[in-house]
Amino acid sequence: MSPDLQDATRGRLLFGGDYNPEQWPPPVWAEDVRLMREAGVNLVTVGVFAWAALQPAPDRFTFGWLDTVLGLLHDGGIGVALATPTASPPPWLGHRHPDTLPQWPDGGRRTYGARNHYCPCAPAYRRAALDISTAVAARYGDHPALRIWHIGNEYGTACHCKHCAHRFRGWLRARYGDLDGLNAAWGTAVWSQHYGAWTEVLPPGRAQYIGNPAQELDYQRFVSDMLLECFVAERDVVRAHSPTVPVTTNFMDWYRTIDAWRFAAHEDFVSLDTYPDPNDPAAAMLGAMSKDVVRSLGGGRPWLLMEQSPGAASWRPVATPKRPGLNRLWSMQAVARGADGVLHFQWRASRQGAERAHGAMVPHAGPDSRVFREICALGRELAGLVDVPGTTVPAGVAIILDWDAWRAVELEHQPHAGFRYVDRLTEYYAPLWRDNVTCDFARAEGPLGGYRLVLVPSLYQLTAAAAANLTAYVAAGGTLVMGPFSGVADPDERIFTGGWPGLGLLELFGVRVEEHWPLPDDAPLAVASAELGDFTAAGWAEWTEACGADVVAQVRGGPLDGRAMVLRHRLGAGTAWYVATLPEPDALHRLLARVCADAGVRPVLPGLPPGVEAVRRGDRVFLLHHDDGRVEIRPVTPSASAAAIPAVP
Ligand code: GLA
Repeated sequence: MSPDLQDATRGRLLFGGDYNPEQWPPPVWAEDVRLMREAGVNLVTVGVFAWAALQPAPDRFTFGWLDTVLGLLHDGGIGVALATPTASPPPWLGHRHPDTLPQWPDGGRRTYGARNHYCPCAPAYRRAALDISTAVAARYGDHPALRIWHIGNEYGTACHCKHCAHRFRGWLRARYGDLDGLNAAWGTAVWSQHYGAWTEVLPPGRAQYIGNPAQELDYQRFVSDMLLECFVAERDVVRAHSPTVPVTTNFMDWYRTIDAWRFAAHEDFVSLDTYPDPNDPAAAMLGAMSKDVVRSLGGGRPWLLMEQSPGAASWRPVATPKRPGLNRLWSMQAVARGADGVLHFQWRASRQGAERAHGAMVPHAGPDSRVFREICALGRELAGLVDVPGTTVPAGVAIILDWDAWRAVELEHQPHAGFRYVDRLTEYYAPLWRDNVTCDFARAEGPLGGYRLVLVPSLYQLTAAAAANLTAYVAAGGTLVMGPFSGVADPDERIFTGGWPGLGLLELFGVRVEEHWPLPDDAPLAVASAELGDFTAAGWAEWTEACGADVVAQVRGGPLDGRAMVLRHRLGAGTAWYVATLPEPDALHRLLARVCADAGVRPVLPGLPPGVEAVRRGDRVFLLHHDDGRVEIRPVTPSASAAAIPAVP
């Protein structure tokens, strides 16, 4: 059996952050360990960007300093998530092997001097990455401080070089078999793009006019697969040296470049880097959504918050720090939503380099600071939550999250250039979050039977397996809501004919969409509904023809006058709703509240004051107050112990 996060937590929530001792002289290391102990830190991530410090030249390894650091940490009782430092190759690699530097679609090369400057297909990069990973794993694979292997960092670099072209051809061969298959899938009859030899096939480059959408889509899939290959290769190296130590890599929230479902399947547990903007009024909701996504990627098992900032994120144009109490509040949100550890970027604020203005657990002001005092208080509090590690978060609703649908709907020259996949998911997630209904995210082709309600805010691209799965879910008694511009194209970006949604979903929803009708932002649509109340919608509508479904809301006035915008259809033992537009938030809230009530989906606690988030995890109900001021809450379910986390302590 492969190890998992519980092998690292050993029954205690993890607490700590990225530790970059290579930026500091040795006397600081001893002080670091002392302060970590004071703060209750029990895990630090080491070595993420230490490649040059560990291998200053191709034939020279310098492990002495890391031996000392790991020894100090271990003596201090602090565990280590040790990284393979392959996200930032040293200058010698790019200098000796310029072909390891990633190439833009226009042919220009990125240079070293920042980070993430590697081509995932360049043989010299792959070799060098495996060499340093092997050296690190061989030296520290059985180190007593080692608790987690952290592979690379935030995978996400795309390249368009000759190595990529070579691997892309192989990838396409495996997918399509031969050139006939490729030509058919890419629709190369359009614009005289027929390929007669594999050597003619290229990554999408900077072309004269609109590129081939199927080629672009395949390239995005390919890039994700190449990065996954890099991950798997390094994972296998560290596993060979320490088979009982769990392996992860850190996801960024909402990053389209890598298909996180596919990555997650190769990890022992999943982890997340998340940086909601303290100035964004929607930050608490967006943070909750990212955390629900990562929990779902890991199959509902505990996950690790690998990075958040204790203060400011310096890459923001206005890097406002977190106000007092906010880091605690968002940390508890992570724990409530399934995290078995809360780590930060980073332990000690850098004095130099690109991130010199970034927040840290020990800020530039030093330990005598508000931030460090809050960190110490958080460490104490997390240490007290001994009943939490290993427990899970129940959810009655699933939202379908699909990388291919995301990529395809955002390809160039879709009917609405502003149609953003994550916006669609957020619009459906937000009202449920406000009502304290816990959601998972799920794959369109995965098991759905455990959910009372499945939401599909956007599924432009549809596979036959997904169509069959969604239909079977409804037939068996489930409730399904699908948003607009769904069921439009197959995985080759070939549009379905005969009306949408395709592949039989027309029968599932009892509606036939004849035309998509994107709208300019300043042309709101008036929609009448006796059941939901009249509302406006914007941005998108469809020429619909109800064929079996009940019409719940229809357009009033304009060219779409009378067209159904919300439809409900009973099929088998279940119900399928189709929403052909983007209702204003209050109207979508009313609709989803109605659907939840019909489907028997209940909030964690009903009737909470606005701004209070409730999440059940294990036997606890976490109550998180995101607004200012005091609120009084009662009653709390007697069986649940509640931890009230105010925004301001
Ligand atoms: C990412 C990286 C970190 C650091 C932070 C800064 O999450 O993984 O190394 O750069 O961003 O916010």
